[in-house]
Amino acid sequence: MVRRKPLVVVTRKLPDSVETRMRELFDAQLNLDDVPMDQAALVEAVRTADVLVPTLTDRIDSAVLSQAGENLRLIASFSNGVDHIDVASALNRGITVTNTPGVLTEDTADMTMALILAVPRRLAEGAQAVISDKDEWLGWSPTWMLGRRIWGKRLGIIGMGRIGQAVARRAKAFGLQIHYHNRRRLPTAVEEMLDATYWDSLDQMLARMDIVSINCPHTPATYHLLSARRLKLLKPEAYVVNTARGEVIDENALTRQLEAGELAGAGLDVFEHEPAVNPKLIRLAKQGKVVLLPHLGSATLEGRVDMGEKVIVNIKTFMDGHRPPDRVLPGML
Ligand code: DGY
Repeated sequence: MVRRKPLVVVTRKLPDSVETRMRELFDAQLNLDDVPMDQAALVEAVRTADVLVPTLTDRIDSAVLSQAGENLRLIASFSNGVDHIDVASALNRGITVTNTPGVLTEDTADMTMALILAVPRRLAEGAQAVISDKDEWLGWSPTWMLGRRIWGKRLGIIGMGRIGQAVARRAKAFGLQIHYHNRRRLPTAVEEMLDATYWDSLDQMLARMDIVSINCPHTPATYHLLSARRLKLLKPEAYVVNTARGEVIDENALTRQLEAGELAGAGLDVFEHEPAVNPKLIRLAKQGKVVLLPHLGSATLEGRVDMGEKVIVNIKTFMDGHRPPDRVLPGML
């Protein structure tokens, strides 16, 4: 008997080498034009596919999953975060869900560090001044374009998983003092290596930090973790950096505080209603108070190829009858 190759439906264009490998291994239905799928297209995909490969721009909610065909056994997401998938509903239907952890850690930590530097040191404003038509830069001046020093300041990392720890390693090398809040305290040896101070109470940590970096996943428990009340605990000189998910911060409250001068600035790579960006944040960016990036945390060619390879390994392992390495389990949510 000839075993047919699994029908793998991929919702977005992936790097060429990943797509070529998928064509070799699977009956791959690719999205070469990269037109995002609407709900009807996603429903059609889950009806027909053996394996669905969505990305974080596809909402695989319970309504979509309720239309899944009998063949759909695996959702192998091309993403680290899985908040675009109703994982509980998938698992209830006997559908395995996998993600791509680990391979985007260093790239995301680099981008976090870039934002930690960019806002206090006014990188975006400075770069704009050099190329501006309005003769904004007339030469070096002792008092022009002064930012704030980051060396010696306190960095509070919320979420000390792989990415949080990679941020801590970089920040330590830049002379920042590392503080963190996490569901679980790190082993002493790791804390010692990072010179990291643990805060059981997020509220108490926030009140004492100069820079706060969000590095936790978005789950029901972390939605608006930085709520209006918690944002008020921050010092007016503090900066907020977010490369995780927009939903972890109450974006309206953050915007109000920045507008009121109750916070020094923010560096945001992610937004609560992505890809929509609050127009008030755009105004604040034009005033140099915030730096906004278009969700570039993992956007390196190497990172995206590694993510694709992880997706392939997860599908192959599953199709060979074994547990895929990157299963998303209920306890992780
Ligand atoms: C992910 O995969 O969850 C990242 O946010 C992509 O940058």
